[in-house]
Amino acid sequence: MRFHVLTLFPEMIEQGCRTSILGRALQAGAISVTATNIRDYSENKHGHVDDYPYGGGAGMVMQPGPIDRAYQAVKSGIPGKARVIYVTPQGNVFNQQIAQELAKEEDLIFLCGHYEGVDERILEKIVTDYVSIGDYVLTGGELPAMVMIDAISRLVPGVLSNEVSAEFESFHDNLLEYPQYTRPEEYEGQRVPEVLLSGHHANIEKWRREQSLERTLRWRPDLLEQALLTKKDREYLAKKGLQV
Ligand code: ADE
Repeated sequence: MRFHVLTLFPEMIEQGCRTSILGRALQAGAISVTATNIRDYSENKHGHVDDYPYGGGAGMVMQPGPIDRAYQAVKSGIPGKARVIYVTPQGNVFNQQIAQELAKEEDLIFLCGHYEGVDERILEKIVTDYVSIGDYVLTGGELPAMVMIDAISRLVPGVLSNEVSAEFESFHDNLLEYPQYTRPEEYEGQRVPEVLLSGHHANIEKWRREQSLERTLRWRPDLLEQALLTKKDREYLAKKGLQV
């Protein structure tokens, strides 16, 4: 997977993607991240890329020209078509399903806005997807782009070990994760649940599934509507007096 980010703060993207699992995936060549500075494509002698909004109002608006030229430069290095994601609080809210869909692509271009907005004409010309990371407003699109790059990268083969990627399946079922414990067996008087020490794999699986069900119902009941529940799951919830 090749990520291409059009931004005014390329160092933010480069630094942010260099550490931890993404950093390792970059080194291994499982993903690549290139940040293109929109300012490099300004034709203004001061390097300006924004101007006052027509019709008045607060703030500045990013001009179409520099973004278009930065985009053309990136596109010329990509074989075939690439989706262009404009990160904006006005977009569809990003989730695991969108991450999975985007993970199938070979190249993804992210456009990060700043100031009060971006000239509508360039959005109409190049953007294929408008995506938000939640109902709050950030100062720019770099963090949202990095959030999406992280979530998409972990779905790319070779980025996570197989063991961990299987783990993800439980969220895929629209259930929250069960609680995890490690050593010591007792911490400040709190013992690790006995079943986890039993070595009885079937009982452990059953306990974990039940914990996932209970947690989802308690904290994210909205997820249960789309969860893939077995007859056993429903019976368990019913036994607890919980109706789905
Ligand atoms: N830019 C500013 N806020 C944002 C958000 N919540 N999601 C995506 N892009 C943004």
